[in-house]
Amino acid sequence: MKPVRLEVNGRPIAADIEPRQHLADFVREEMLLTGTHLGCEHGVCGACTVLIDGAPARSCIAFPVALDGASITTIEGLADDPVTARLREAFSVEHGLQCGFCTPGMLIMARDIVLRRPGACADDIRHELAGNLCRCTGYVGIIRAVQQVAAERIGEAAVMTRGTTVPAPAYVSPLALPIAPSSVAKAPEPAWPAASPQETAVSLEPLRNPVELVEQFRVPADAATVWAFFQQPDKVIACLPGARLVAPSDGRSLEAEMLVKLGPMQAAFRGAALLAADPATRTGTINGQGVDTKGASRVRAMLTYRLDAVEGGTATDVHVDVAYELKGPLAQMSRGTIARDLAGRITRSFAENLAAALSGAALPEQARSLDAGSLAWSMLKGWMARLFGRR
Ligand code: FES
Ligand code: FES
Repeated sequence: MKPVRLEVNGRPIAADIEPRQHLADFVREEMLLTGTHLGCEHGVCGACTVLIDGAPARSCIAFPVALDGASITTIEGLADDPVTARLREAFSVEHGLQCGFCTPGMLIMARDIVLRRPGACADDIRHELAGNLCRCTGYVGIIRAVQQVAAERIGEAAVMTRGTTVPAPAYVSPLALPIAPSSVAKAPEPAWPAASPQETAVSLEPLRNPVELVEQFRVPADAATVWAFFQQPDKVIACLPGARLVAPSDGRSLEAEMLVKLGPMQAAFRGAALLAADPATRTGTINGQGVDTKGASRVRAMLTYRLDAVEGGTATDVHVDVAYELKGPLAQMSRGTIARDLAGRITRSFAENLAAALSGAALPEQARSLDAGSLAWSMLKGWMARLFGRR
């Protein structure tokens, strides 16, 4: 047993909880909040969705002992929420429920969508709701109901929720075309790269449903030195674990490949990117896309970076924002903790290699490949440490 403090539907709770008891069982059995349903208990169906610190999460794979201090909202906690009330009406009118088993999870996810994406179109809603399964297959009515409420919210400010995607306009690269405002009308599908690894044309269309990752690290070198290094794609790519240039870069574009292995999943992404840089502000963008030549997953990404001089000019903070979309077999890995842990570890490895390269040291051989086994193991250890409160 471990003492845990939580806030559940606005009520402070202090309880001794078994480490193995997941959040869904806790709210159902200890708090008698049975509106949270359990379907697969594997994080797949979305029936158990609740809000953790305001963001939708699967309570069957979340553990109260790892959530000390968190605020949990179940469907009961949204009884008086006006957006949820409007969604309930729309679900009823549009026949968005039959047996109702999926409905609590659907409503919580739908509320998050209409708050974040006023005016979201049917395709966007389908994509956002892809992780919530309805065993009665009443998707048409569900999508119609959510779209109707999203349309009513056109003109409202988008509300950000922690740990989720943000509306596409925030990710429009300086290289990209202007984005059209959201509309309930069907928007055209963005162009995706051709399956051929030889395809090098980079799409500049805005990403429609990006996942956001923000990273920052400090390098022990002055900003001018780091900036000069960043303008040499061959050297930058050499610092990225598992990546290499497949052709010489002209400084404005590059062709590269990156090998990633995580547990049973392997990917060999090969693709192209366009580079842009502004020396006046020491900022730059990289728009890229690639195809997994092993498993047919496809990725499009927009990366922006900024260098800030710190410590009296002797060190540089590198800020990196990445927005990406992944399609295909690896898409299930593209959101949530796994993606953030993976990005964090790649960034730390990149930062160490960059610092070594700037100091003139040769990169250690193992740093040139993404060590999948140790990465997965250290991620697992990190989760276990968080779960049991050890570091
Ligand atoms: S019961 Fe949690 S995702 Fe299915
Ligand atoms: S309405 Fe029955 S599972 Fe969705």
